[in-house]
Amino acid sequence: IGPVTVTTNPDIFQLQLKELYVQGGGDCPEMSVGAIKQALDVSLPSSSIYVFTDARAKDHYLLEDVLKLIQRKESQVVFVMTGDCGNHSHPGYQSYEKIASTSSGQIFHLKKSDVNEVLNFVRVSLQARKVNLLAIDRSLSQVTEVDFDVDSTLREFTVSVSGDTPEITLVDPSGRDVGLSEGLNNLLNLKNVSIVNIKDPFPGPWKLWVRTKGPHTIRSTGLSTLDFIHGFSRQPTAKLKETYHRPLKG
Ligand SMILES: *[C@@H]1O[C@H](CO)[C@@H](O)[C@H](O)[C@H]1NC(C)=O
Ligand SMILES: *[C@@H]1O[C@H](CO)[C@@H](O)[C@H](O)[C@H]1NC(C)=O
Repeated sequence: IGPVTVTTNPDIFQLQLKELYVQGGGDCPEMSVGAIKQALDVSLPSSSIYVFTDARAKDHYLLEDVLKLIQRKESQVVFVMTGDCGNHSHPGYQSYEKIASTSSGQIFHLKKSDVNEVLNFVRVSLQARKVNLLAIDRSLSQVTEVDFDVDSTLREFTVSVSGDTPEITLVDPSGRDVGLSEGLNNLLNLKNVSIVNIKDPFPGPWKLWVRTKGPHTIRSTGLSTLDFIHGFSRQPTAKLKETYHRPLKG
């Protein structure tokens, strides 16, 4: 793994990507959990981390370290996978599921030719003032119905579903189905992923229905000036500095 490139210069970033040395396969799993750990180490808190891979992890023994780091940094890890060595019950794959769900991230299974489309989603998800609205994982094939509230500070929101043949229905506070002609934007619509976005949503109670042919994960984020952060403390305090990011013993 590495060396790590840290830059704010897009040209250097592009150059380093081009110089990545791709070693010919053989063994399927990769040292990806260690790579995620390094990315978490060098990046700022609340970062968005994207993992592009075609294999499960060989170094899943690093999982606990990575989960602790995620809790401390509150960063989000999204996986864009074009292969997975074909066994979703293997701990090397399940480590990705744990990292994604702990970080409110997600796993997308795509064809190599669709990877470029994911950049549409990356573009939206990297906007500043992003707030998390909901994160739901369903391990069974079922219709998920969710009620959520939109307040007047929310300028837009995005719903992203990963699963087989996703269908998303959104109903606004007046009870109206919001489709393409009512302001729904389709950011990504592939066999295994659907991502929609709504700008200037009406404030009030919204409803979301999600249907897929198998298990699915749902994430929703919005753009708002209003966010919520939390900390744990044994004593009542008004200062977040005096709190800890994980529950304290006792
Ligand atoms: C998948 O991985 C699990 C856990 O390592 C193992 O028990 C199982 O035999 C594997 N299945 C296949 C088809 O390789
Ligand atoms: C959809 O995801 C599955 C793994 O869950 C994968 O095997 C399949 O190739 C994906 N299909 C497409 C079109 O990307």
